[in-house]
Amino acid sequence: MSDRYGVVGNPIDHSLSPQIHTAFAAQTGEDLVYEKLLAPLDGFAGTVQAFFTEGGRGLNVTVPFKLEACELADELTERAAAAGAVNTLVSDEHGNLLGDNTDGAGLVADIRENLGWVIEDKRVLLLGAGGAARGALLPLLAERPAQLHIANRTAAKACQLADEFSHYGAMTAGGLDELCGGFDLVINASSASLDNQLPPLPEDLLTSSGRAYDMVYGAKPTPFVHWARAQGAEAADGLGMLVGQAAEAFFLWRGVKPRVEPVLAQLRRTLKA
Ligand code: ATR
Repeated sequence: MSDRYGVVGNPIDHSLSPQIHTAFAAQTGEDLVYEKLLAPLDGFAGTVQAFFTEGGRGLNVTVPFKLEACELADELTERAAAAGAVNTLVSDEHGNLLGDNTDGAGLVADIRENLGWVIEDKRVLLLGAGGAARGALLPLLAERPAQLHIANRTAAKACQLADEFSHYGAMTAGGLDELCGGFDLVINASSASLDNQLPPLPEDLLTSSGRAYDMVYGAKPTPFVHWARAQGAEAADGLGMLVGQAAEAFFLWRGVKPRVEPVLAQLRRTLKA
């Protein structure tokens, strides 16, 4: 029988994860099935436990359960513990659940490998101080940027996040209203694009060769991607991060790293259609 994997969330209908993991399995010849699990809002732990008791091997976790998954896991990877959130669960032979967070690694892999952009020695700005920003910090610091600045609408939250992560590496923080320009890479980890909004940004935010990345994706360019392109900058949305985090989860489960580009191209076509 094929090994069982899945993604658990609420809602879950929209999830592209089954398409991604089915494509990875076909590409690598791994024998697995991947399903969508709708967990009741007050029934996440029960849904997860039932899945693993029935022989399930691994789960992706999506909105709104990433924090609960962090509490449920018996053990956490360092990056999941730092993020305070889990997007990937895997059960070991004793039934212990390991929680990982592959979101930040997916982001960095997309930036480096798909887009070919460099983070090392660059001045990097991270917009937002919520869960998405928190998950990105450790993998971004590991790339050794020249500067990492966190800017948030609520400045105190950015400062608190920088404080909490200060033992992992140097970073600065402040409000959006205090921002001044000269960044080589601006990553939008705020949820503004989900509401079709653009954070207030100064025009000189990017250097002349600066690049912009929005963690949100869609069929059309997000307001942030649109803004960056209007400044003449190269810009990308977060679809590659979605495929990248899935590839990291697939590797954790199967020990095989799938190729991201063909699946990303296929997904982009699906979105446009
Ligand atoms: P997520 O898990 O997606 O990060 P979150 O934890 O709710 O979601 O965090 C959302 C982030 O987007 C916050 O940093 C929020 O700023 P505040 O801390 O000031 O609330 C930011 N955000 C949401 N809408 C925004 C907007 N229109 N402009 C700027 N920042 C916005």
